[in-house]
Amino acid sequence: MKAEAPDPNITVWFQNRFVRLGDANVNILTHALHYGTGVFEGIRGYYDEKRKDLFLFRVLDHFDRWKRNCGILRINVPHTPAELSDIAAELCRRNRFESNVYIRPIAYKSSARIGVATDENDAYSIVAIPFGDYFDSKHGLKAGVVSWRRVDDTAIPGRAKICGAYVNSVLAGDEARHAGHDEAIFLTQDGHVAEGATCNIFIVRAGKLITPPVTDNILEGITRDSIIQLARNELKLEVHERSIDRTELYVCDEIFFAGTAVEVAPIVSVDYRPVGAGGIGVITEKLRSLFFDTSRGRVAGYRAWLWPVYGSAIIEKTA
Ligand SMILES: Cc1ncc(COP(=O)(O)O)c(C=O)c1O
Repeated sequence: MKAEAPDPNITVWFQNRFVRLGDANVNILTHALHYGTGVFEGIRGYYDEKRKDLFLFRVLDHFDRWKRNCGILRINVPHTPAELSDIAAELCRRNRFESNVYIRPIAYKSSARIGVATDENDAYSIVAIPFGDYFDSKHGLKAGVVSWRRVDDTAIPGRAKICGAYVNSVLAGDEARHAGHDEAIFLTQDGHVAEGATCNIFIVRAGKLITPPVTDNILEGITRDSIIQLARNELKLEVHERSIDRTELYVCDEIFFAGTAVEVAPIVSVDYRPVGAGGIGVITEKLRSLFFDTSRGRVAGYRAWLWPVYGSAIIEKTA
């Protein structure tokens, strides 16, 4: 995937005001740039042509997670999740976005000086850009287990989107692509499947959905949580959060990634072995389309997950 540089003239939220992206710059000595002391988020918004509205997906949950995770680095974000959601929606309105969007909040240690010790100088910013597919996963992805292990909670907590921890994901993704895969699968230090470089992972065995527990060094994904809820409530599937062995990837029926950027991405091969029959699994396809419909306001009962930017009423249809 190669993303284009966003238009420098879009409006972003920086230093407590709306400014041009091209004017939202930080000092070269900024603490977070040198030591990775930032926490970011990734939120999607889906544009509905029919209703002419843009729906931010689980934006309150994303900002709630962000604020809690900022606490790990003792970074303070001086707004409630609802206030932050309002700023994000206002950004989309000011930019008159009428397409799917990706919203990138980042909070960071902002002092411009040398020295690892932190102080009370925190800053944060929110950027929204038009955004399409992260992966072309229509025909399924090839994934490979990489030699890099997932950062351990005792080293850098992977449950938060801590900037410095993403070196781990960069190394993993780089290794996977050089080996001819589309995406990496991380193992934990003790050899259990953790997740992808930028997404959580699910497998299907004998009709049951299985995903690693939040104590296996995964990012506590909001898409993961959405999939668990949809699988249990709408498809009446049994869902287990338990450790997964590497070779379960070779003998299971289906595998897919789940995350804000990748959405629901089927995996058709792992370590050069076909997954199941080598095509997209039936349960994966059902969950992918259910997630798609839910994120567009087309499934009854999930209205609270959507924040309409242009204020339309969401008309729910029964699934
Ligand atoms: C390492 C990692 N795991 C999982 C996820 C998925 O989390 P979410 O569904 O909240 O986007 C992400 C999201 O960017 C991620 O970076």
